[in-house]
Amino acid sequence: MEITGSVVIVTGASAGIGAETARALAERGANVVLTARRAERLHELAAELAHYPGQRLVVAGDISQEAFCQELAAQTMAALGRVDVLVNNAGIGHRSTLSEMSAADVQTIANTNLLGAIYAIQAVLPTMQQQKRGQIINVSSIVGQQALPKSSVYCATKAGLNMLTRSLRLELRGQGITVTLVYPGLTETEFYKVRLGEKGTRRINRPGVSARRVGDAIVRAIAHNRQEVYITLPDWLLVQTNRLFPRTLDWFVGRLA
Ligand SMILES: NC(=O)c1ccc[n+]([C@@H]2O[C@H](COP(=O)([O-])OP(=O)(O)OC[C@H]3O[C@@H](n4cnc5c(N)ncnc54)[C@H](OP(=O)(O)O)[C@@H]3O)[C@@H](O)[C@H]2O)c1
Repeated sequence: MEITGSVVIVTGASAGIGAETARALAERGANVVLTARRAERLHELAAELAHYPGQRLVVAGDISQEAFCQELAAQTMAALGRVDVLVNNAGIGHRSTLSEMSAADVQTIANTNLLGAIYAIQAVLPTMQQQKRGQIINVSSIVGQQALPKSSVYCATKAGLNMLTRSLRLELRGQGITVTLVYPGLTETEFYKVRLGEKGTRRINRPGVSARRVGDAIVRAIAHNRQEVYITLPDWLLVQTNRLFPRTLDWFVGRLA
C-alpha cells in the first residue's frame, strides 16, 4: 500500500496510539480522517498536521453508535471520495472484578471495543468491496491472548476482536481487502487514567513503549500489508509461551498483576 495520497480513517485519534498513528500517517502524506468524541482535540491535531501534504478531515462522534459509523463513512466519501484503510483503534479499558462492574460499564466497554469496531467495518466495507481494495487494521492487545485479572470484559472484547478479524480475513479472501491484527502491550497513553473502575495505578510497575512506536508499527503494517503485528519481542514471547504453557503463564501473570 502506498501511504502517500491514501485515505485512512483513524478511530480514537484524539489521544494516545490513535493520535500518534495519525501523526505518522500525515508525515507520509496520507489523507487522514480523525475521529473520536472530543472534537476540540481532533481539531487541534488537524491544525498541528496542516503543513503536511494531504488533507485532514475531522468527524467527531461516538464509535459505539452504528448511525455515527455510517455518518463517518459518508462524510469521508463526500470529502475524499474513497476509503483505503480503516484503523480501528478506539478503545477503553477497566480495572475491576466482574462482580463489581455495573451493566452500564460492561456495555460501554463492549460497545466501544467490539461493536464499535464491527460497525466501523460494516460502514466502510461496501466502499472497499466496490474499490476491490482496502485494509482494515484492528488494534487488539496482548491481553486478547493472555488473560489478566480485573480486566475480564476488556480481555473478552479483545479476544472477540481477534476472532472477528480472523473470520473476516477468510470471508474477504480474493476480494483485495486485507485485515490486520495489531497487538500492543503496555503503552504510555491516557488509557490507564481514563479507564473505568480503579484509575491510575498500574499493576505492572515498568514503563511501557511510547504511543509513537505503536503508531509507527501500524503505519509499517499498512505499508507492508502485515497480518499480525507485535510491538516488542517480550510481548511476542509472552503470547507464544502462553500458547505452549497456558496454566503456567496464567499463574505467573496472576502473581505479577
Ligand atoms: N495503552 C495500552 O497499554 C494499550 C495496550 C494494548 C492495547 N491498547 C489498545 O490501543 C487502543 C488505543 O488505546 P490508547 O492506549 O491510545 O488509549 P487512550 O489514550 O485512552 O485513547 C483512546 C482513544 O479512544 C477514543 N475513544 C474511546 N471511547 C470512544 C468512543 N465511544 N467513541 C469514539 N472514540 C472513543 C478516545 O477518544 P475520546 O475520548 O475523545 O472519544 C481516544 O482517542 C485501544 O483499543 C486499546 O485497547 C492499549
